[in-house]
Amino acid sequence: MCGIIGYCGHRPAVPLIIEGLKRLEYRGYDSAGVAFARKDGFEVIRSAGKLGNLEEKLGGLYVYEASAGVGHTRWATHGAPTEQNAHPHTDATGRLVIIHNGIIENYAELKAEMAAQGVTFRSETDTEVLVNLIAKGLDETKDMLQALSWALNRVEGAYAIALQNIDEPDAIYAARKSSPLVMGLGVGENFVASDIPAFLPYTRKVVFLEDGEMCKITASSWSVFQVRDITPVDKEVHTIDWDVQAAQKGGYKHFMLKEIFEQPKVIRDCLAGRLDLSASRVCLPEIENMEIPERLIIVACGTSYHAGLWGMYLLESWAKVPVSVEIASEFRYRDLILDEKDVVLAISQSGETADTLAGIRIAKERGAKIIGLCNVVGSSVARESDAVIYTQAGPEISVASTKAMCSQLTALLLLALYWGEKRGSLDSKLRDGAVRGLSELPGLLEAELPALRGKASQLARKYSEARSFLYLGRGLNYPLAMEGALKLKEISYIHAEGYAAGEMKHGPIALIDPNFPTFALAPVDDLYPKVKSNLEEVQARAGKIIALTGPEAELAVDDPWRVPTPQSPLCSFVFLPALQLFAYEMADYLGKDVDQPRNLAKSVTVE
Ligand code: F6R
Repeated sequence: MCGIIGYCGHRPAVPLIIEGLKRLEYRGYDSAGVAFARKDGFEVIRSAGKLGNLEEKLGGLYVYEASAGVGHTRWATHGAPTEQNAHPHTDATGRLVIIHNGIIENYAELKAEMAAQGVTFRSETDTEVLVNLIAKGLDETKDMLQALSWALNRVEGAYAIALQNIDEPDAIYAARKSSPLVMGLGVGENFVASDIPAFLPYTRKVVFLEDGEMCKITASSWSVFQVRDITPVDKEVHTIDWDVQAAQKGGYKHFMLKEIFEQPKVIRDCLAGRLDLSASRVCLPEIENMEIPERLIIVACGTSYHAGLWGMYLLESWAKVPVSVEIASEFRYRDLILDEKDVVLAISQSGETADTLAGIRIAKERGAKIIGLCNVVGSSVARESDAVIYTQAGPEISVASTKAMCSQLTALLLLALYWGEKRGSLDSKLRDGAVRGLSELPGLLEAELPALRGKASQLARKYSEARSFLYLGRGLNYPLAMEGALKLKEISYIHAEGYAAGEMKHGPIALIDPNFPTFALAPVDDLYPKVKSNLEEVQARAGKIIALTGPEAELAVDDPWRVPTPQSPLCSFVFLPALQLFAYEMADYLGKDVDQPRNLAKSVTVE
């Protein structure tokens, strides 16, 4: 959701910024722009649509002289995704130029106040209001840090900003509150960006800015201050251990496909150091000092929420922990009954999702302990949690989350085993079977993925005219059904609903007809007879059925999709990529933008 990059160094800034913006494309955007200083003022070049449009405009200009500048991909919030609303924005006098990710909630009042003082605005954005407010601060204080502090103390909402002052063209100022911002420290060059891939080819040394902090970078210096009162802040420099390779397509047509095929590795990486095969034990040092919670509340959004629902079944069954799973945007506005005895498990791939973070903060205020289950090292969720279990999935670039969910399921399974063992509630045979099965899972999946893709592609072609799908599952397969439906709708734009199979007769069954196919998750397990009778209800209404099931199933449906089904819950790790690949093949066949679906952002840093 909006990508920011600022550069000060010894290289031509504009090509480097464009390249950085391309590596932030996964965040989702609908317009883009860059700015840099010339002798007579800022050059600001912007365009609606994809970065190619911006590059076309830049093609006709000589842009190689600037060695500092800022660039932005905008995901529209205030005002349509037009060139006029695209960032960067300058203040009315043209002294300052800004890029911004987030929402300034009190922008309307501030705009009215400044308009009354004679400031004219050229866009509909909250960002233009902010840059004018900072310019006003500069008039009053004559100092950039003071101006930033003065203005930012007056705004409400979320922001990550980077800005330049024409009087200091070799410096960039940046600040954050509730939107991600990270500094990259190179040799004779420094960066600020929304995410590390933006500058990863140049440096792995990073400093994570906290909420309420601002920084100044030049080619040879960097410093961090509190926004509140400009006191200097000592920051730790972290070294990132993944490389550019991990953030590239590696021969696959799309990042999504690459990430689906990475799942065997993701499972291996998530298990590494946590699964002691010889002793059939799980070690989770991250939470070894924590008691087993009396009650666990899982808070998350989207795919991470589905992973949480899946985890609930296991945590209740194996570890006997009462669990509720909450959509973060609902949780944050409820009259919550929470106290010190409660533990909140916040699940987030990016670790920057605004609603999940708000949930964490509210739960903390009520005294609950927070465990973060997240992928991005040093992210806000990681930093604000009392303990963090990293899912170790590596960078996920495609907007549609795939391998991250696989890693979340792996980590949740480990957690259920760990607490189940600690409480003594876990049957040892079951535990040994699960541990052995887990260790064999990556190999099994590696062997199976090509066949899954082949079948997914064949089914996608067969069903490509359907405008709606019903996904059905029971137990652990109910959250997977919801996830299958989410994947299909977000990348192929085909409407889909994920339902508990037993709930179908309470409403959705009315929709069934020959043009409304059902995608069933029907492993041969305890619930199989129940799912089978649900499918008969569909068939009685001439509904077509694809059913993911085990090799031994005798299911008389239109398209049985027989796959190896290791003992539950491990079967989910085969069903999940099958669902992902069906959505992928459908979207690709229909010619959709698989990695950057319309209207979606990778990391949803606003409400
Ligand atoms: C779906 C998807 C989203 C995210 C959701 C939460 O494919 O990617 O539904 O799962 O926005 O994001 P994180 O996990 O980063 O908090």
